[in-house]
Amino acid sequence: MTSAEAAPLVELRDITRSFPGPPEVQALKGATLSVAPGDYLSIVGPSGSGKSTMLNILGLLDRPSVGEYRLAGSLTGDLSDDDRAAARARFIGFVFQSFHLLPRRSVLDNVLMPMLYSGVPRRERESRARDALSRVGLSHRIDFLPGSLSGGERQRVAVARAVVSGPKMLLADEPTGNLDQTTSGEVMSLFEELNDDGLTLIVITHDDGVARRARRRIRISDGRLSEL
Ligand SMILES: Nc1ncnc2c1ncn2[C@@H]1O[C@H](COP(=O)(O)OP(=O)(O)OP(=O)(O)O)[C@@H](O)[C@H]1O
Ligand SMILES: [Mg+2]
Repeated sequence: MTSAEAAPLVELRDITRSFPGPPEVQALKGATLSVAPGDYLSIVGPSGSGKSTMLNILGLLDRPSVGEYRLAGSLTGDLSDDDRAAARARFIGFVFQSFHLLPRRSVLDNVLMPMLYSGVPRRERESRARDALSRVGLSHRIDFLPGSLSGGERQRVAVARAVVSGPKMLLADEPTGNLDQTTSGEVMSLFEELNDDGLTLIVITHDDGVARRARRRIRISDGRLSEL
């Protein structure tokens, strides 16, 4: 079976997300989307159009008001909060525009973080964190504090942290928003290497050049999805 025929990793059906207000805002309106394992999507759209709302729902950080979200075949609406947290830890990595690193912890500690309560023994955790940092080209920075790194290096630490637990899907919200063009290209190339190895990639961006690199391009306008 090719990946195009494989069972979808993500299936959103008629998702609406309303914020009660007042005034009530419908941030997503009837969004339907299917994502195959190993797919690579970009999401573009004006500020306030619903992109982060969509990513929060995909990442099980938020629940739709109406509609169904199936992740790896399971209906997520039926899951308890604990089960959602477990599914998130197992399937999903996140990367954000402002890196969200712990400023007083070393690079290595930041990457160890997601595995703290995973039940993986300390030596194994450390070995995986070192591998992830080597993967993003930062083996020489493991004892540094985030504040002493460049923006691109910080984002690469965040990528290492996002993939260290072996997720199926990486969700990135404006991952290159704070980076210059060269560094942005490097971070995108890193994402694409991970995607070549089978990681499903969904990237929100305001940058057309970044958006065009993806295999599929989704636009959100006023809460409605369309595929370009
Ligand atoms: N927690 C919330 N409570 C109320 N309204 C919200 C909440 N989160 C988002 N919204 C509203 O939903 C709409 C979509 O917001 P969202 O953050 O998804 O936009 P976005 O496309 O990510 O924008 P940006 O490009 O500026 O990040 C906006 O009108 C926003 O004000
Ligand atoms: Mg946003």
